[in-house]
Amino acid sequence: MQRRALLIGGATLALAPLLARAAGHRLDQTPAASGQGTATGTSHSSNTATSSRLAQRKLGTLEVSALGLGCMNFVWAYGASIDRQDAIKVVRAAWERGVRFFDTAEIYGPFLSEEIVGEALEPFRDEVVIATKFGFNIQPGGQIQGLNSRPVHIKQVAEASLKRLRTDRIDLFYQHRVDPQVPIEDVAGAVRDLIAEGKVKHFGLSEVGGATIRRAHAVQRVTAVQNEFSIWTRDPEHEVLPTCEALGIGFVPWSPLGMGYLTGTITPERKFAQGDLRNTFPRFTPEARRANWPLVELLQRVGWRKNATPAQIALAWLLARKPWIVPIPGTTRVNHMQEDLGALDVVLSADDLKEIDDGYAAIHIQGARAPEASLAGSDIGARLGTSSAGGHGMSPLPANRKP
Ligand SMILES: NC(=O)c1ccc[n+]([C@@H]2O[C@H](COP(=O)([O-])OP(=O)(O)OC[C@H]3O[C@@H](n4cnc5c(N)ncnc54)[C@H](OP(=O)(O)O)[C@@H]3O)[C@@H](O)[C@H]2O)c1
Repeated sequence: MQRRALLIGGATLALAPLLARAAGHRLDQTPAASGQGTATGTSHSSNTATSSRLAQRKLGTLEVSALGLGCMNFVWAYGASIDRQDAIKVVRAAWERGVRFFDTAEIYGPFLSEEIVGEALEPFRDEVVIATKFGFNIQPGGQIQGLNSRPVHIKQVAEASLKRLRTDRIDLFYQHRVDPQVPIEDVAGAVRDLIAEGKVKHFGLSEVGGATIRRAHAVQRVTAVQNEFSIWTRDPEHEVLPTCEALGIGFVPWSPLGMGYLTGTITPERKFAQGDLRNTFPRFTPEARRANWPLVELLQRVGWRKNATPAQIALAWLLARKPWIVPIPGTTRVNHMQEDLGALDVVLSADDLKEIDDGYAAIHIQGARAPEASLAGSDIGARLGTSSAGGHGMSPLPANRKP
């Protein structure tokens, strides 16, 4: 696992685009009580375990719990991998608390996150929505050799992911990164074939701009777009959220907690472990963390009034933006997962939202969200205010289409 983690860590820089308070007051609440007042509280059994029900949201036509669980961090990104059985416990604890939406990808590990998710959710498979992603050339030994969204490869990846996930269908299959060698129409066509075969239920796109979304959607309905979005990373507001709204597509913010910073636990003094990607991210230098700290204080101020933690305010802010937004906070710890779910209890008023947005506007966040080389591979969002309007995005046009 260690060697694979190193391989992928190195690859991340190239792929890049790829990339408090621990115990809140809500830890003593039953999960059934969570869910912005709309939770049903119905318990049901599956095997011997029981689970509560959280509020639900819709991504396009796909119903999911209003918060999902990001399953990347068990096996890479922010320091050492955790033990496989511990990771399975986190996934099952999330299910017990009503989480029904789990996010993984072939590249996480690689392969290991899908294996963990598959094993953990096998007993509850029919109750959950599993999202995974394709789009890279990964050797059996774990070496990543660039992007690959060729249709034949997408179909091979689907078969392999199905095995690792121990299932006969992938509920939501995202292209992880736009492949500048393959027209998005061909990618959408390949996923359309998989949907026709029943192996995939819904199509998603990650780290994409408006032009790519529209082109893909014209071939195969896009159910969800997954881009980085949080209080301090606003890029999707420019053109992606309006495109999703216009087309009835759901939006899944990745890194909704700002890779942990918005929880208030990443002080300027904190040292990251070797291999932690944040060592290479401009926004995580000690200077940038110090300069951006007023944002954490802003979340703390609002949180004190609401009896909520900064993490909960950061997630509640996303939930309040649109009813078709479903954040997927990532964590390796049950207590953090439980705290994050407490965000469903936090109702932010128009005044609260204005206070957060005005406070954010006055701060001028320091440091890019990812290294320059990574952002260069992003279809959109590398710089706030960039737009694909008038262009066709990073994906080449099909040979038979004039520019
Ligand atoms: N599509 C893409 O390209 C893409 C890219 C990146 C991520 N993702 C997906 O998005 C998910 C979430 O993104 P992310 O993991 O990068 O960032 P995130 O959810 O913004 O933050 C994760 C970090 O926050 C910490 N954390 C979580 N809850 C906490 C709490 N209550 N208190 C203190 N710390 C807390 C975690 O540490 P602990 O483990 O200690 O809790 C972890 O270091 C990933 O798991 C993955 O599924 C997708």
